[in-house]
Amino acid sequence: MEKATIFEYMSLRRKGLELAKMIAGTHFTDTSDEFINWLLVSNAGMQHRGNVACFEHAIKNLPNDYPILEIGAHAGQSANIICYLLRKFGKSNQVVSVDPWIVRGYKDEQTSDATYLENLAGDPEVNRVDFADFIKDSYLRNTEFFSKSNLPYVFRNTSDEFFSLLKSGDGIMDLRNRELKTDLRFSMVYIDGNHDYDFAKRDFENAHERLAEGGFILFDDSEDHSNFGCAQLAREIESHSDYTLVMKNPNRLLRKNKS
Ligand SMILES: C[S@@+](CC[C@H](N)C(=O)[O-])C[C@H]1O[C@@H](n2cnc3c(N)ncnc32)[C@H](O)[C@@H]1O
Repeated sequence: MEKATIFEYMSLRRKGLELAKMIAGTHFTDTSDEFINWLLVSNAGMQHRGNVACFEHAIKNLPNDYPILEIGAHAGQSANIICYLLRKFGKSNQVVSVDPWIVRGYKDEQTSDATYLENLAGDPEVNRVDFADFIKDSYLRNTEFFSKSNLPYVFRNTSDEFFSLLKSGDGIMDLRNRELKTDLRFSMVYIDGNHDYDFAKRDFENAHERLAEGGFILFDDSEDHSNFGCAQLAREIESHSDYTLVMKNPNRLLRKNKS
């Protein structure tokens, strides 16, 4: 029998790895184009590359021109990807980003060490409040640079506060001093804020109330076997009669059914 060449061996190895990922539920298709590839290395953020295909599917199939709500914006990476895809597919929907920019550390829940809690990872040179402002300013700068022509609305609030504000009057002013009408509904909601079950559930319930029929919800970090509360919630909603799972790449994209 002929020996396999190094290329045949590599190809077999790649196929084996893909199969293992499929079994583990972490397999995904990456549809990032050149602009998104540049964005992902220039704009700090935490986007899973699989989300790009989810955003693309949702944006191409939005039920109307209602805004898209993003919960959890960090430095604007996902906001810029969504704004870019809206331009690419000729859609006029506005993006609304919501984030309190209160930066939590990795050990917050397990430590009472004042130094750690005051400074970023205990570095006395980097104060946490300054760091949170730095990330917020990064969001503003990154979106002004990459999404100038369809600049997102942005609110420095938790999602709970934001949904309460929407019930509070005719219009609310964003960080850029632009007024957002409060009677709005959404065509898509991207849930990427606090990943704990109770928080994600409230985000889902509030989103559901304002989501148009045929609209989309994407849960970040909701792949199979993820331990996040938001993943458990997304799996539950999969069997919800009001929603249909349209994509798992590996995060879950759901569509609100038309009644
Ligand atoms: C995983 S990051 C978001 C990543 C971002 N989408 C990106 O493209 O890189 C989670 C964000 O959620 C924000 N966050 C935490 N609790 C929140 C809450 N209750 N409401 C809204 N955002 C929240 C955090 O400040 C953080 O910036």
